[in-house]
Amino acid sequence: MSFKMSLLRIAHLSDPHFGTTRLDVVDGLLNILKKIQPTLILLTGDITQRARANQFKAAKDFVDQLGPAAVIAVPGNHDISLGNIYARIFHPYKGYKNIFKQKLEQHIVLEDLCITCLNSTSRWRHIQGDFQNSYLEKQFQENYSYCKVRIVAFHHPMDCAKHVDDKNLLKSRNHAIALFERHKVDMIVSGHIHDPYVSLSEDRYPHIQRKMILSVAGTCLSSRTRAGAPNSFNLIEINTDLIPSITLTRFDMDLWFHFSPKETHRFSRDPNLSWNREPSSWAGNLTEHPRQ
Ligand SMILES: [Fe+2]
Ligand SMILES: [Fe+2]
Repeated sequence: MSFKMSLLRIAHLSDPHFGTTRLDVVDGLLNILKKIQPTLILLTGDITQRARANQFKAAKDFVDQLGPAAVIAVPGNHDISLGNIYARIFHPYKGYKNIFKQKLEQHIVLEDLCITCLNSTSRWRHIQGDFQNSYLEKQFQENYSYCKVRIVAFHHPMDCAKHVDDKNLLKSRNHAIALFERHKVDMIVSGHIHDPYVSLSEDRYPHIQRKMILSVAGTCLSSRTRAGAPNSFNLIEINTDLIPSITLTRFDMDLWFHFSPKETHRFSRDPNLSWNREPSSWAGNLTEHPRQ
């Protein structure tokens, strides 16, 4: 799939959990997305709470209002039925595919930007995410060396702010990060833990030489928020010039259901393809968010 574009702006939404959403929050998110006008909207899973037909229908109604932006998605663990064992085993992604009409894996090309969408869920696992080594190797067989910037998206995170969430990280993350380094991936985006966090790979994977950007989005719509993490989403702005740079701005919802910029991270890439924070990274009214 390939889209023509002039400005690389991606709204990264995650974990709406339709079935646990409030109309006011949905309206607030639709309003800000209309103002921002991203080229692409990327949904990193847990689209529904329990993979029920009415929840997928609500998700479809929402997605239908996101135009003209293109919408791409990956599934989350909540998008496979939990109670209906027959559906879970024999057609785990039926409801998800009815909405997105997309393969579970896809490679999107936006001129100089490539986005690889992967499926970290399985009918055989309820919560934790993983990749078979052979699965990952297969997804990266094709040569995307013409891409100036490369993003990989899947549901389960590669890093987190709180040690209590370590159990929710992608199981095969050490193998995955080595493969991402080998294939010159620049940024990995995920969801799942409803606790937004942005880091460089050197924090958790110091043995990996080339630094990549790791970003986890919070829940954009669900009432299943965590303490200190209201509904939010990330705007990712990508500059693919001679010296590529990425600006990530997190928009948080306030008590009046308005989403506004809360925290900005700026990164640039050095000649060794390693990413570094710009000095002006911490904007807005937030203090630095150390690992807890
Ligand atoms: Fe979730
Ligand atoms: Fe999840």
